[in-house]
Amino acid sequence: MKILIMGPPGAGKGSQSERVVRDFELTNISTGDMFREAYQQKTPLGIEAMRSIESGHLVSDDLTNAMVKERLHQPDATRCFLLDGYPRTVGQASALDTMLEGMNSKLHAVIKIIVPHSRIIDRMSGRRVCESCAATYHIKFRAPKVEGVCDACQGTLYQRNDDKEDSVMNRLRIYETKTRPLTHYYMERGILHKVNGDQSFDAVYAEIYAVLKGLE
Ligand code: AP5
Ligand code: MG
Repeated sequence: MKILIMGPPGAGKGSQSERVVRDFELTNISTGDMFREAYQQKTPLGIEAMRSIESGHLVSDDLTNAMVKERLHQPDATRCFLLDGYPRTVGQASALDTMLEGMNSKLHAVIKIIVPHSRIIDRMSGRRVCESCAATYHIKFRAPKVEGVCDACQGTLYQRNDDKEDSVMNRLRIYETKTRPLTHYYMERGILHKVNGDQSFDAVYAEIYAVLKGLE
């Protein structure tokens, strides 16, 4: 199974992906997580990407496509994967199609999580992320058992720099202009499935689970 999860910033892509990859035994490929990890390790890619990320802009297609291409050729990604946050432009979507064709493969489904923008600011401002395993929490909606500490690995939780209001507004604008057109791209290919993200974690997951079970 090769699937993609898309939606605006704060839609719940990361939160839902954690559960999907566990239940369906998929390799999780999140370009946002990969850029943040590269930045933590102070690689040239991470430092360059973070310049765009902090202000809420997209990293260039060339840099992003090259990073994903390398990742897709690693052994754990050749059979089944879940892409979170890639592609985000029509250029990236067509680059992905070419990469997969070159591997005699294709995407089986695209899950789009729909959430009104009014919910998003609340979700972003309360988000906390584990610096070790990237698990996602929320101070109100999904609080860790011990404040500031990851339930899963006891890592330290931090607030992402791009969760400041200015960056969030930029990210939403960019989503509308650059990423929303992908809905049409995947609808035309007959693989788009929309789920309502404006409900509890479990209710969103139940919708995603039903779509993925239908693919098996
Ligand atoms: P990325 O890390 O992918 O950020 P994003 O797309 O903006 O999405 P988020 O991670 O902010 O939100 P999410 O949908 O994962 O929501 P989450 O589950 O955390 O990318 C970051 C940056 O990297 C980009 O802006 C760009 O600069 C760069 N980048 C990445 N990919 C790129 C690409 N392909 N091309 C170019 N640049 C790229 O949930 C949010 C919060 O809400 C959490 O606190 C969670 O607990 C809470 N929450 C979630 N669901 C619910 C619910 N149902 N009820 C209540 N609370 C909920
Ligand atoms: Mg995310």
